[in-house]
Amino acid sequence: MNTVAATHIETLPLFRRGKVRDVYDLGEHLLIVATDRVSAFDVVLATPIPEKGKILTTLSAFWFQKLKSEVPNHFITCNFQHFPRECEPYRHLLQGRSMIVQKAQPIMIECVVRGYLVGSGWKEYQQTGSVGGVQLPAGLQYGDRLPEPIFTPALKVHDGHDQNVSFEQLQQHYGETLAEQLRQRSLWLYHYAADYLARRSLILVDTKFEFGFDAQRRLLLIDEVLTPDSSRFWRTADYEQGKRSTFFDKQVLRDYLATLKEWDRQTPIELPSRVVQEMAQRYRQLFEMVTGMRWGTQRICG
Ligand SMILES: Nc1ncnc2c1ncn2[C@@H]1O[C@H](COP(=O)(O)OP(=O)(O)OP(=O)(O)O)[C@@H](O)[C@H]1O
Ligand SMILES: [Mg+2]
Repeated sequence: MNTVAATHIETLPLFRRGKVRDVYDLGEHLLIVATDRVSAFDVVLATPIPEKGKILTTLSAFWFQKLKSEVPNHFITCNFQHFPRECEPYRHLLQGRSMIVQKAQPIMIECVVRGYLVGSGWKEYQQTGSVGGVQLPAGLQYGDRLPEPIFTPALKVHDGHDQNVSFEQLQQHYGETLAEQLRQRSLWLYHYAADYLARRSLILVDTKFEFGFDAQRRLLLIDEVLTPDSSRFWRTADYEQGKRSTFFDKQVLRDYLATLKEWDRQTPIELPSRVVQEMAQRYRQLFEMVTGMRWGTQRICG
């Protein structure tokens, strides 16, 4: 199986190498390549996960296509036949794991939407009774569904942890109109996706979106959408049985890392093959539950 931990496309200028994705500059467009790198706590681990980049690219493409008529987004194609000629020598690296998108001027905000009380939101609620400045009813338990989904934006910090910002700070920095647009669009997307996923026996616990402006200053949904790298999921059946700590995404990895008492959350350690295999399987299962298609037979990104 061809696992790709990094790409070096010499015929194209590198735009940015992120934790997980390598991005190349095509002028008006970008080529986003999802590698098989995996990160946890903002650290890229030393062992790639076979097919992860392909699965995440295909899932994002699935959502971008589905959302096309509802929310303007940056997706152009993930069909290798439509890629520029310079990509041809790198077909073995790129095909199935990369997409061409409209280049945008990114808004440096992670538009987080939370539907349930978990993770850092739960910690904050226990201390303050609110999450991201949104006051919540008293007496909620870990994993409870929130009365309604909430928008808790965070400032994107390259090479560091993102910082939560209040909606008021967002308004001050970006103006009321844009702040409100980001909030409404993110909440709409959460509702749309959560309704769809509920019909597929999945719960969208929380997720984050990124937006940017195109050359005409139109707001575009960019980056990746509704993947296990940008979202947390539960299987409805697990949740109903009270298994609220078993997320159906990168949980296998988080559980393994939690057993390493010595790990400093900085060193890019190797992963045992059991963890790698379980993660690869989990990504495939999630893809199949979300799309209703068999991984390996689908033809979304050819
Ligand atoms: N259409 C677009 N135009 C410009 N930049 C984009 C577009 N879509 C995604 N990006 C950027 O490409 C990068 C993708 O890389 P990746 O997400 O792996 O990086 P990262 O290490 O998570 O860093 P970041 O904190 O910036 O997300 C991100 O910085 C994202 O904001
Ligand atoms: Mg990112």
